[in-house]
Amino acid sequence: MKVTFFGIQPYDKLSFNTMNEGFGFDIEYHNSLLNAKTVSLAQQSDVICIFVNDVADEEAIKGLSEAGVKLIALRCAGFNNVDLDAARKYKIQIVRVPAYSPHAVAEHAVALMLSLNRKIHRAYWRTRDGNFSLHGLLGFDMFGKTAGIIGTGRIAKVLIHILHGFGMNILANDLHPDPYFAEQEGIRYVALDEIYSQSDIISLHCPLTEQTHHMINKEAIDKMKEGVMIINTGRGQLINTETLIDGLKKKKIGAAGLDVYEEEAHYFYKDTSDKIISDDVLARLLSFNNVILTSHQGFFTREALENIARTTLQNIKDYENNIPLVNEVK
Ligand code: NAI
Repeated sequence: MKVTFFGIQPYDKLSFNTMNEGFGFDIEYHNSLLNAKTVSLAQQSDVICIFVNDVADEEAIKGLSEAGVKLIALRCAGFNNVDLDAARKYKIQIVRVPAYSPHAVAEHAVALMLSLNRKIHRAYWRTRDGNFSLHGLLGFDMFGKTAGIIGTGRIAKVLIHILHGFGMNILANDLHPDPYFAEQEGIRYVALDEIYSQSDIISLHCPLTEQTHHMINKEAIDKMKEGVMIINTGRGQLINTETLIDGLKKKKIGAAGLDVYEEEAHYFYKDTSDKIISDDVLARLLSFNNVILTSHQGFFTREALENIARTTLQNIKDYENNIPLVNEVK
């Protein structure tokens, strides 16, 4: 069975090649992201494999169908970049990797929180330059502070457990609250307004949907505490970045840790260090000393890469063997 990979990076290739020794698929790798223009690379493939910044919109899916593709294997959890109606229309099935390491992303969210709070990113450069002053590096105890967690799925549950270790109070919000988890962890599910008004740190862990698109907008930010820290390891479009910048300029937002960005597909996973950044919003974000931006690397641990490769190739194997697809996106 021929499987064509889009948007491949050297580390993906290494982990998939190693895992494929046990599967034996005929794999073709491409650096290009999938979109309507690159779809022809999938000619004569039964399956394509894509990641977070590939675009499987209706035009691309129509092209994939014409090329003979029957299955799109996402090597990630989120599927907001796939037009599911178009996939149904062209009879292409979708599989994903629902959980490869919730620990990886939760721990990255904590890394962003701690770095921003204790200004580690600034201290690192200071001491290397012989500047041992503490001016401007004042942080706060996490103990006793309130974290507002939006979306309490796999990643958020790990995060909540870690934050409890710091002695933080947890407020949570979810479309489908989990009362058993709430009782076990001693957390409260509350309305978004209470998350906004009571939290010292707000961390986003819900999927990108019509409902959550730009959920962090001016109205939401206006309700937040002065100096709130916002962490986003979910999807860039959960936040209206221009209003985030406005909040940062007005000091309403005290810090932002962003592993995702609305227009990340143009930049993330590429080395553009010998070019200038033409995206003014991104450039402004990068100018704040209380913003840490990472390039969608929350998932990037050895354990997660191995799990991604194993589950993706098993999903394809199940499709080949015509057995029920446990990780199908309907
Ligand atoms: P999950 O599916 O286990 O949990 C998502 C939770 O969000 C569910 O409990 C769901 O009920 C809730 N939810 C859905 N709509 C909501 C809404 N409107 N308001 C409040 N809650 C809502 O997902 P998981 O594995 O915890 O991942 C969360 C998100 O993290 C993914 O959707 C993905 O976008 C992102 N992600 C980011 C990674 C990174 O490298 N930065 C890696 C993996 C996932």
